[in-house]
Amino acid sequence: MRVQEVLSTSKEQRVATHSHIKGLGLNEDGTAKHISGGFVGQENAREAAGVVVDLIRTKKMAGRAILLAGAPGTGKTALALALSQELGAKVPFCPMVGSEVYSSEIKKTEVLMENFRRAIGLRIKEIKEVYEGEVTELTPVETENPLGGYGKTVAHVIIGLKTVKATKQLKLDPVIYESLQKEKVAVGDVIYIESSNGAVKRVGRSDAYATEFDLEAEAYVPVPKGEVHKKKEIVQDVTLHDLDVANARPQGGQDIMSVMGQLLKPKKTEITDKLRKEINKVVNKYIEQGVAELVPGVLFIDEVHMLDIECFTYLNRALESSLSPIVIFATNRGMCAIRGSDGLVAPHGVPVDLLDRLLIIRTLPYTLEEITTILSIRAKTEGISVSDDSVQDLAKIGVKSSLRYAIQLLTPASILSKINGRDQIAPGDIEEVNSLFYDAKSSAQMLQETKDRFIV
Ligand SMILES: Nc1ncnc2c1ncn2[C@@H]1O[C@H](COP(=O)(O)OP(=O)(O)OP(=O)(O)O)[C@@H](O)[C@H]1O
Ligand SMILES: [Mg+2]
Repeated sequence: MRVQEVLSTSKEQRVATHSHIKGLGLNEDGTAKHISGGFVGQENAREAAGVVVDLIRTKKMAGRAILLAGAPGTGKTALALALSQELGAKVPFCPMVGSEVYSSEIKKTEVLMENFRRAIGLRIKEIKEVYEGEVTELTPVETENPLGGYGKTVAHVIIGLKTVKATKQLKLDPVIYESLQKEKVAVGDVIYIESSNGAVKRVGRSDAYATEFDLEAEAYVPVPKGEVHKKKEIVQDVTLHDLDVANARPQGGQDIMSVMGQLLKPKKTEITDKLRKEINKVVNKYIEQGVAELVPGVLFIDEVHMLDIECFTYLNRALESSLSPIVIFATNRGMCAIRGSDGLVAPHGVPVDLLDRLLIIRTLPYTLEEITTILSIRAKTEGISVSDDSVQDLAKIGVKSSLRYAIQLLTPASILSKINGRDQIAPGDIEEVNSLFYDAKSSAQMLQETKDRFIV
């Protein structure tokens, strides 16, 4: 088999609805470029989202909320995803849909609370006593199995660690040998071992070995400076939900019944309010001591009109607590009834007292040119070739119905063009595919005209 000549095609292969969105596409001064980061037009909303990103980065946004409001298909979900990409991987981003709260097993507010805590990060800095260095030798010393029988057991491990300044030989417990094996430590790796609990962490391969091959899937790190045995600052990023889960494990012993119990009990019901309060207390103490730093992330609740009045009152309070992320809501509803409120009508289906706490960003419908550009970007992402005329035709359909409908016609049109023996979509294919499918508006119109033929 020839491997060298096979090109990697993974880059543009998996295409989802928002794959073409790479970021907000803003200039240094915060103004939006007309086309950038896969985003076209919608400048005001993008600039507003840029301001939100700045607020989050400077940690001035905790406990505040934004509402993205606009007609269907105007890019609200896309905007929220772009925002998360701008924030980077270190800031937690937790997306959910309003309807996720309805579960027969878990309370609505419980689901909300869990997602709130998924969106709050904690950067814990710990000064730990460690042995760190490049591994120069790794020899397990075996003895006869003391229980008799065959085979040998490891009595201890001799490991040599080297830094720029010193070398040291350590004699380690067999338990640590197991974690060394788990981390796949070999001679030439840079590792550290925590002296309090013997936890082993492989940092990477020593860069003294970096010239062995031209190309290698390895992270090379310099040989550590200073002594082998030293104090080291270790940074860990976790979310409050991670802490909840880690502390909610059943405390039972090793017997078979408690192991079964762990399998049967879903984790979620074990995280109690009491446990959360305890964790908050510890977290607050860490923050006061300067051991940990709070990283408020983003909780994105799409289709917020699906929440009911109970959830809304809960949100009012949750937003005001001291440990709260930035919450971004999105909705495409205008005036509509609030769920669970006996027909109380409110803007966006959100009670006015919650609306009062929100900053609202509007997304506006697109022009013909903008739809044309979005369609060409989309066609490129999906790997479909389209002639310029057909993009124009498709964009006109988009103006009449919606951007999303136009985007959705791309793939069927490309299939039709293949059936017709072309490898590029021509205007004829667009016409044909548009006659095969209905958009929401024409379907509704059709229903109106022929309503006596349907069951009511
Ligand atoms: N300005 C834009 N630039 C590029 N692509 C866009 C833009 N706006 C929307 N899109 C794309 O159009 C499609 C529809 O947008 P999106 O799903 O974000 O709409 P929405 O406002 O969330 O609609 P709904 O209210 O129905 O949920 C998506 O594939 C999205 O990536
Ligand atoms: Mg959406």
